Amino acid sequence: MEKKRSSFSRYGFILAAAGSAIGLGNLWKFPYITWHNNGGAFVIIYLVAVIIIGWPIMMAEIIIGRRVKKNPVPAFEKLGGKKWSLVGWLGVITGLVILGYYSVIAGWTLTSFTKCLKWSFSGYVKPGEEAFTNFIGNGQLQLFLAFIFILATVLVIWRGVKKGIERTTKILMPILFCILIYLVIMVMSLPGRDETFKFLFNPDFANLPTAGILEAVGHAFFTLSLGMGAMITYGSYMDKKESIAKNAGMVVFLDTLIAICACIIMYTIIFSVPSVKEGVSGSTIGMLFITLPDLLYTHIPFGATIAPIFYILVAFAALSSTISLLEVLTSLLIDKLKWTRKKATIIAAGATYLISILCALSLGAAPFLSKWQIFGKGKEGVLNTLDHLAANWMLPVGGLFITIFVGWVLDEKICRDEVSLYNEDGSPKFTYKAFRFFIRYIAPMAILAVIVAVFAGWDFS
Ligand code: PFF
Repeated sequence: MEKKRSSFSRYGFILAAAGSAIGLGNLWKFPYITWHNNGGAFVIIYLVAVIIIGWPIMMAEIIIGRRVKKNPVPAFEKLGGKKWSLVGWLGVITGLVILGYYSVIAGWTLTSFTKCLKWSFSGYVKPGEEAFTNFIGNGQLQLFLAFIFILATVLVIWRGVKKGIERTTKILMPILFCILIYLVIMVMSLPGRDETFKFLFNPDFANLPTAGILEAVGHAFFTLSLGMGAMITYGSYMDKKESIAKNAGMVVFLDTLIAICACIIMYTIIFSVPSVKEGVSGSTIGMLFITLPDLLYTHIPFGATIAPIFYILVAFAALSSTISLLEVLTSLLIDKLKWTRKKATIIAAGATYLISILCALSLGAAPFLSKWQIFGKGKEGVLNTLDHLAANWMLPVGGLFITIFVGWVLDEKICRDEVSLYNEDGSPKFTYKAFRFFIRYIAPMAILAVIVAVFAGWDFS
């Protein structure tokens, strides 16, 4: 007899799914791309993308997962036949690829945290110009940090859906929200506050690079953990009584709120030290791992208190995301091969770590891996290549198939049943009709635009 699948409790789904969504994408990538796209107008486009594409696709993934109560591969197979299970496989492989490099970057947050703790107690020592390059080029250290991060993820996952994932995210997420609110309040007294609000909420469309529109769509996938089956997997643990539209809406709302808060915190600090502004735009990594700690310790009141707290926040956010990434492969091994959860977790983590090894050594330690490229200049090294591959190709392609499947292939009755939004006379509610319209027309067209743009050679990773 088949074992009954665990379900999340009432708020368990929202917290776990928000945990998956909120991560380095919000605290590292979003502030950087918003800065590059000149703020205000980009934020508006991003909000529109998240509402008209992100929300419906998240609902679509949950519908698939909850209907079949299985991992993306068997879920697609059951609902659409063998051919469609390929979309599930694409998702699983994408998850493996993302986790492989994500855990390396997540490992950096551990170093930032311990360094900040040390500085807070024994005084700040400005790192030399080459410090960061040396740090990422230290192969052994990179391997160790990624290992620690994957180990932490394993320890959560192998305890199961309720005792591991739900319990951990129920602790992590409220702490994360509190730290973030505390930091937003702290920076409100800094002189850069007004400029930050103007930059973020005063849209000037003349200043928006056209490429920014597509970048917003691409980022919506990554930040909401869409296009690779993470939400299908979490949806398979969602209770039948829960409203898919409301839960998905809440996750989208929380993810967006946190991304905006991250911008408010970082920009206020940056705008408070005018001489720094120009130097920030230089590197993706720079803002979070180089500029910010320096400013916190040299210019910001209470910076020594804020800094370690901030980096533990980033580490927690990254952990709640790696949990969902590893769970996709783990649940496949459990569903398909009937392995025990412990065995599945270890094997999934081992496979992931093999990719992490290549990524960790591709930041300078192993010249061959560091120079390897298939996407041209600026994308050298295994880590950069995989990031580019996942964000530009795998997620949008996976997302496109999911919209086509739910919008055009899946029996509409299943959708209606799962979403369950009826008026008293049995006719579908406006929200359902809007969902149908967006998942059939708007979302696929927007994703196609992204894919065509990638074909045309434009990079939005
Ligand atoms: N959404 C995560 C972030 O913003 O950092 C990244 C991610 C997690 C992508 C899980 C995909 C996923 F399945």
